[in-house]
Amino acid sequence: METLGAVLRIVAAKQTVPGALLPILHEIQEEFGYIPPESVPLIARELNLSRAEVHGVITYYHHFRQAPPGRHVVRVCCAEACQAVGGEALAEHARVRLEGSDLTLEPVYCLGLCAMGPALQIDERTLHAHVTPEKFDALIDALGADR
Ligand code: FES
Repeated sequence: METLGAVLRIVAAKQTVPGALLPILHEIQEEFGYIPPESVPLIARELNLSRAEVHGVITYYHHFRQAPPGRHVVRVCCAEACQAVGGEALAEHARVRLEGSDLTLEPVYCLGLCAMGPALQIDERTLHAHVTPEKFDALIDALGADR
């Protein structure tokens, strides 16, 4: 119930802000690393929305996770400029390489490195440009991923 208490505090602090749902969801994910499913009914009740509406927003935005992330989050750019220079192959390589690992793979739609694709980001901190499958493997090896 500690989780719901924290969620309630976050909701209460932002409830009166216009369009409160998105900032609330962002803060919940910042706090927990994902949106705990049990928080959805509470958010809906407090904002006077249906559960389906809240769930719809969570699933619409790729940014929101519905399960706790792995030890690291690897985001591969799937937007057009990166796709045009090998991003698709990189995303597939990443999917195969990280399957069953303790890392989370997520798509992202532009990291601002469009002229230096394919691009990826690790843990919302480190950006990497011109990522080939070989470079990807070296980056993952450096993270010490469990297989
Ligand atoms: S399209 Fe990939 S960084 Fe912009």
